[in-house]
Amino acid sequence: MAGGGAAASALSSPWRALLQRALDANAHLKHSTFFQLATVSGGGRPANRTVVFRGFLEHCDKIQINTDARSNKISEIKEWPLGEICWYFTDSWEQFRISGIIDVIDGSSLDPAKLQVDYVNLKSNQRLMFRRAQEGDESSDWMAEKVSP
Ligand SMILES: Cc1cc2nc3c(=O)[nH]c(=O)nc-3n(C[C@H](O)[C@H](O)[C@H](O)COP(=O)(O)O)c2cc1C
Repeated sequence: MAGGGAAASALSSPWRALLQRALDANAHLKHSTFFQLATVSGGGRPANRTVVFRGFLEHCDKIQINTDARSNKISEIKEWPLGEICWYFTDSWEQFRISGIIDVIDGSSLDPAKLQVDYVNLKSNQRLMFRRAQEGDESSDWMAEKVSP
């Protein structure tokens, strides 16, 4: 499977200690490593999805995310590399919003750990996308389509 990694670099680093404190305080919750990553897709439309925190890249504050190189987010990031993370820690009631430029570490990277695509054990791997038969026409029927990856 094609793999890829994405790393969002934040604007400054004083936030890192706060984020680490929140991670430690919420470590007993499995979902505390999930956050939302928003990117900009074609025509300036926002695109947002849940991803798993994979740690910080060595010797810097870049946040690592693993993904599939074929996913929409990769083409979006290549076209428009600005993104924002929104991360809510449910036990400590803290929200972090981190915006910055997203670097894509693609299959040419020599580090296989950065290419791992094992991000989630969901109940089902199935994804369904719902859209109107005629986009923008609120009277048209909803259609469901299976999407991958
Ligand atoms: C709990 C959870 C964790 C997820 N973690 C990741 C992840 O780490 N990387 C990833 O690419 N997709 C992850 N996904 C799937 C994404 O939310 C998304 O559906 C998928 O990456 C396709 O997004 P895209 O079409 O915008 O690229 C996760 C989904 C859930 C529900």
